Amino acid sequence: MRLPAPRGPITTTLFPHLTRPPAEHDLGTALRDALPGDGVLGDALRADGVLGDALRADAALGDDDFQLALFACYELHYQGFDDVDDRWEWEPSLLAARALLEHRFEQALARAVPRPPLDGPHGVRRALNELVAADDGPSLSGHLARHADRRQFEEFVIHRSIYHLKEADPHTWAIPRLAGGPKAALVEIQSDEYGGGRRERMHSELFRATLRGLGLDDSYGAYLDRVPGVTLAISNVMSLFGLHRRLRGALVGHLAALEMTSSLPNRRYGDALRRLGGDADAVRFYDEHVQADAVHEQIAAHDLCGAFAAAHPSAAGDVLYGAACALELERRWAGHVLARWEQGATSLAGPLDDRHAGPARDRLATGPRSPASRDDEAGRQSAGRR
Ligand SMILES: [Fe+2]
Ligand SMILES: [Fe+2]
Repeated sequence: MRLPAPRGPITTTLFPHLTRPPAEHDLGTALRDALPGDGVLGDALRADGVLGDALRADAALGDDDFQLALFACYELHYQGFDDVDDRWEWEPSLLAARALLEHRFEQALARAVPRPPLDGPHGVRRALNELVAADDGPSLSGHLARHADRRQFEEFVIHRSIYHLKEADPHTWAIPRLAGGPKAALVEIQSDEYGGGRRERMHSELFRATLRGLGLDDSYGAYLDRVPGVTLAISNVMSLFGLHRRLRGALVGHLAALEMTSSLPNRRYGDALRRLGGDADAVRFYDEHVQADAVHEQIAAHDLCGAFAAAHPSAAGDVLYGAACALELERRWAGHVLARWEQGATSLAGPLDDRHAGPARDRLATGPRSPASRDDEAGRQSAGRR
């Protein structure tokens, strides 16, 4: 994957540095200039008139420029970018710049997500259940199952590709940070996510088959340019929690929320794709999650989060907070997607004229496709002509 196009002043400042060797740069200073109003600046710059809308209150949670910059910083710890020197991963000024973004992200999350009440560390499992039961976000899965057309389902998959193509990686950061029972519980879940050692069963590989089945590009990061900030925030919060040991409680709570809200929606996603003509290979990712996550949610809530909270009572509240953050960002993303579709618009980022462009696969697929994708699309097109 190559660096995406900049989306505003932060990425316009950051990205040109990253395409050069990591020497003699001071990104911390450069980003401070692009992030007016941060605490490191003088009081004069903190006046409301100077703060950009994107960085005020909780707006950073959905700001394209902000979230893309943070995503690019985090991506250096995953697969990286073809046009970025790997040494940037631990370059001190890059880390300083990332810390500025993270500080803003944490502030925005704290404003948007109240810390859920908790009646002692032994109440974590019950509190997680109550949190999930109280989630009243819009039902994207219900819309997809009953009403979505193929173009909308393709958009849904493109959004999800940002996380699913690296599925499980952000939570894996917690493994060396846990011990005993919680570590064993997390490894049990992650082993399933990684296919139990079989590549063809890795959930990220199953999702690649879903992309190919829809005639979409199955390569890692292919659609990074096409997703809005509200989508990137879903991945960024996992990386934030995963890359800071102090937030490991929030990370396991985040995973529990994902697992506990997965089984039923994935049944609906699978039903939607079958209704829209998806074959068994394309639907397998969703069917697999109906089964696997019915088990994972028990392990995550009890063996992982419950045991972690019992062992670390002072971090029990973090577990619930991490879960609440997952639910809130998912709610915002689903709300964005459904609102755009209600307006007859695309939920993806991109030029305005895309909203009224032709067939989805002509418009949505960007960059080179894998041979398998091209073969599959050719087959579907000829079938369509018959
Ligand atoms: Fe999975
Ligand atoms: Fe799972």
